[in-house]
Amino acid sequence: MPLVSTSRLLRTLVISTLILLGSYSLFIWTESSLSINVKPFGFQFDFDYRYAYADEDDTIATLLQSQEEDDFLGLDDFSKRFTPAERLLASGEGFCENWTVPEDEEEIASREKESSCWKDDHYRQLKYFLDKAKTDKTYSELSWHDQINARNMKSIRTLFGCLVYFGTREALPEECSDNMLNVMVLHDWWWDLALEGGSESGETVWLRAMVETFQGQNYTMVSLNWHAYHYLVKVYNALPDVVSFIYARDTLAISCLSDPRCRSDFPPNTTAVTETPVEQRRTIPSWKLFTVDYWGARPGDHGRSKHAYGLQWGEEMTFNPLGNEWTISPFPYPGHTHIPLTMEKSCLQLEVVSHGQRKNEVTVLGKLFEYFYRTSFVPQDIWLSFENTTSLSPIANAHALKTDSEDDTPPGLVNKGPVAREDYYEQVANSKVFLGIGRPEISPSPYLALCLGVPVVLPYFGEKAVPDGWDLYHSAAVQHGPAASIRPPYVYSYHVDDNENMYAAVQAARDNPIERYIPDEMRDANVRSEILKLVTTDWHARSREIEAARETRGEPARVLVKQHIIQRLFHLGVGRRVGENGELLKILPEKGSV
Ligand SMILES: *[C@@H]1O[C@H](CO)[C@@H](O)[C@H](O)[C@H]1NC(C)=O
Ligand SMILES: *[C@@H]1O[C@H](CO)[C@@H](O)[C@H](O)[C@H]1NC(C)=O
Ligand SMILES: *[C@@H]1O[C@H](CO)[C@@H](O)[C@H](O)[C@H]1NC(C)=O
Ligand SMILES: *[C@@H]1O[C@H](CO)[C@@H](O)[C@H](O)[C@H]1NC(C)=O
Repeated sequence: MPLVSTSRLLRTLVISTLILLGSYSLFIWTESSLSINVKPFGFQFDFDYRYAYADEDDTIATLLQSQEEDDFLGLDDFSKRFTPAERLLASGEGFCENWTVPEDEEEIASREKESSCWKDDHYRQLKYFLDKAKTDKTYSELSWHDQINARNMKSIRTLFGCLVYFGTREALPEECSDNMLNVMVLHDWWWDLALEGGSESGETVWLRAMVETFQGQNYTMVSLNWHAYHYLVKVYNALPDVVSFIYARDTLAISCLSDPRCRSDFPPNTTAVTETPVEQRRTIPSWKLFTVDYWGARPGDHGRSKHAYGLQWGEEMTFNPLGNEWTISPFPYPGHTHIPLTMEKSCLQLEVVSHGQRKNEVTVLGKLFEYFYRTSFVPQDIWLSFENTTSLSPIANAHALKTDSEDDTPPGLVNKGPVAREDYYEQVANSKVFLGIGRPEISPSPYLALCLGVPVVLPYFGEKAVPDGWDLYHSAAVQHGPAASIRPPYVYSYHVDDNENMYAAVQAARDNPIERYIPDEMRDANVRSEILKLVTTDWHARSREIEAARETRGEPARVLVKQHIIQRLFHLGVGRRVGENGELLKILPEKGSV
């Protein structure tokens, strides 16, 4: 017998596509809330690169137009995919019929032993949590942000209040939806920005699609303060059957998976485990713990990995010892779970300017003077002959950092300086070509240009315009590899040391106008269906497959996080542990160091 009838599933699907992303409200991020421990990443992330990012302010209207229902139903073998909520409801068939709210503590306790209905576990756990929250702020204030605290508590209360209705096939009260049983715990700063608005960084734009999809599907979201690693353990211990998945920041995921008080499936007989009392060990199974990471789990010779995780040159990295299927990223990094970035709805609101009406201009990507000097990859003399060679005037929008000695871009370039986002869009839309000169590494801007019907020209540094494997994302091999792999007539490549090659690429782009282009995988409908695939994958089964395959190869089924990675995180001050009283430790205990 199928887990859930196919027709019901299809109906749910059709309904869920028709219903839009709920009421998504944008809150203004106040200065005071921003001041709390904001610590941006210390590697090459173009934090301020705001004007180039998608404008998310107008949402629903365009999205309605761009709905592509059919794509939704074309998911591969969808009949075998179920959300945790559907699995739960199916497990209650025959057991949860006529379920009632227990009358008192005694009944709760007796049902704990006797009941075969999951609702009794949910009821007990949620009631415990809500009772705790009445007197203990660490339960009611899981986030550092008031709006998110209010949101978290409302979600948990609603889930509790709706228990009796879930799966009953009767008309649910307005505020209840079976999908609420998909409970997503979010544990990263970027999630909070995606939830509350106020940032257009690449990370936020990317995660906002997940937040909106979860909201549109009525999933329950609980977002934890990313400074409070121990809250993850606390929340999970209170709600082990309620929490479906956890989506955490890299350092928190690694910390948990190397902490015997956080991870439940440690390899048996490891020191850390044998030194931790049994009753403190039970917590999170690895298969529920995902890392969300814009940059991916890169090998030691690619980007920040060597520094951030103390890797050897070329050493492979994985956040979850189960593998990088548990790392979710916006680009198809090798072996990762890929949820593409989408800017479709905001970019569809922008007008494409017909080719004949555009100015004879090239917009040059790069907002800092230093991209044109110290960290420039292209020779500075390229700009002097640029206009004469290409008949296009190169326009920059750069400014100085405090440490820069330059006060303008090199001669030959016209620097318009930073401009308002709308003006930047207009400038790009009126350009004939959009040109990268090496940095920033991976910004969403080339996709914006393509969406405005402007072909993109990007440099590469090594042998191949479109390198293979991890090299496609190596900042010393190519600028914006994922965009470069789209190829002409949308994206052209030139070798950074070859001026003639650059002029030729710009001329080819100039002479071959394109229509608006949005890569199929970056369409909203596709991104939503990838998110649903993520949620409907049986990750528990997948983890067992992986462990079984290891055993077949004669390897241990369960694997530890490598010692030098743990040491590195603590050395950098970003490693975390839970102490024996549930407290937060920032120093690796000598005992139990795995
Ligand atoms: C979400 O909940 C609302 C009622 O609160 C309901 O009308 C809608 O159908 C639900 N959406 C999905 C995808 O289940
Ligand atoms: C649930 O209630 C219905 C209607 O009262 C009854 O027919 C059915 O037998 C009950 N089911 C169980 C498992 O008690
Ligand atoms: C763990 O240690 C115990 C006691 O020394 C032993 O009985 C057990 O077989 C060990 N388990 C594994 C999986 O090695
Ligand atoms: C560009 O062309 C113009 C007109 O043909 C000429 O006067 C000028 O010197 C040229 N500039 C360079 C840098 O070649």
